[in-house]
Amino acid sequence: MAERVAIILAAGISKRMHTELPKVLHEVCGRPMLAYVLDTCRQVGVEKIYVVVGFGNEQIEERFSQAEDIVWIQQKEQKGTAHAVLCCRQYLEDFKGQTLVLCGDGPLIRAATLKTLIQKHEEGQPAATLATAVLDEPAGYGRIIRDKNGNIQSIVEDSDCTPRQLAINEVNPSYYLFNNKLLFDAVQDIKPDNVKKEFYLTDAVAHIISTGHKVLAVTAVRPDEARGVNSRVQLTEANKIMQRRIQQKLMDNGVTIVDPDNTWIDIRAQIGQDTVIEPFTYIHGDVKIGRSCRIGPFAYLRHGTVLGNDVVLGVFAEVKNSTLGDGVRARHSIYLGDAVVGRDVNVGAGSITANFDGENVNRTNIGNDCYIGSGVVLIAPLELKEGTRISAGKIVSQESIDKSEKTE
Ligand code: UD1
Ligand code: MG
Repeated sequence: MAERVAIILAAGISKRMHTELPKVLHEVCGRPMLAYVLDTCRQVGVEKIYVVVGFGNEQIEERFSQAEDIVWIQQKEQKGTAHAVLCCRQYLEDFKGQTLVLCGDGPLIRAATLKTLIQKHEEGQPAATLATAVLDEPAGYGRIIRDKNGNIQSIVEDSDCTPRQLAINEVNPSYYLFNNKLLFDAVQDIKPDNVKKEFYLTDAVAHIISTGHKVLAVTAVRPDEARGVNSRVQLTEANKIMQRRIQQKLMDNGVTIVDPDNTWIDIRAQIGQDTVIEPFTYIHGDVKIGRSCRIGPFAYLRHGTVLGNDVVLGVFAEVKNSTLGDGVRARHSIYLGDAVVGRDVNVGAGSITANFDGENVNRTNIGNDCYIGSGVVLIAPLELKEGTRISAGKIVSQESIDKSEKTE
């Protein structure tokens, strides 16, 4: 197998986002965009990932500080995508293998597409292979210019297109695989001859062809994975596309999602077979839901929620950082935060854990088979023994529980 590395471009200021947070840290379905691109590279096998950063570099490096396969490359001035690649030269100029080049603002890329790219590249042995997409609305993307035999000649950026070129629907999603040596030969020669006066990586295509080498463009990218994120509107679109993928996968694994358009599920969530997610449910963060549960409508499950099997959480149930055992029932307007709730516990309508005392967040432990009536306030820290019954309307503290145990 050929040796392979990846370069991910993530240094841009992203003017069009109007953001203080670096663009690639903006989240799509619960993960920063860059995380998706990194993972896709890893899925196809790369030895190292060179991430070019500039604007907000410290925040980005901090966020991914655990990753051992990343080499951070600084691009002090953002002079364009070819210049960003050139910043990696001192690490890569002697590398003899293949180099994937991707953008940190393209979170929708799928490993299957990169595999196709690699396969075509290895079959045809060109200097570069790029994947293209055909879009109904190509505005904003670099257009693929082919000759009459269908071979790629160049990529022209939207702002440099003639009216005729603007009508071309085949675009560049920025998914490239290069022979590393020829990539660096090309990027060092690229000139900023364009409207924006930037050094464009897209010019590498025409340059490589002009030096007598072959470039392959394979139409391998589905429209829903071609989108880059340059604005908040595009961020929302990417979220929608990713959300559809997440839900599709869950449904394929036996989860019923009653109304996909009105349900939001974080990419980190795991949901067991035969669970039904009712409309307007919002699942955010690392959440695990067992089998045969019924969630919603209007449920809000937050980070750290772990549900056993056969749990029922109904309308306006909010759960955070809590573990609920099998068969827990909480059908109406409840809040459980920082709690461990045992098997077959009933939590009545309007009952809550009061988990924050103004300074600390405190825990509540509820034993198996407890019955908590409606409108109960459980003041944490609190421990309810197995089988405890709390009647409706009670305000329960550890002190009150200890007292009532003494008088019994
Ligand atoms: C780029 C492509 C365009 C393609 C589109 C797909 C170029 C010139 N254009 O356009 O053909 O259709 O992606 O989404 O490559 N970056 C740096 N340093 C720089 C400039 C940019 O690291 O000096 C990074 C950005 O952070 C971003 C990526 O490169 O992650 C692409 O830059 P961006 O400005 O988003 O280019 P597009 O206009 O989207
Ligand atoms: Mg972009």
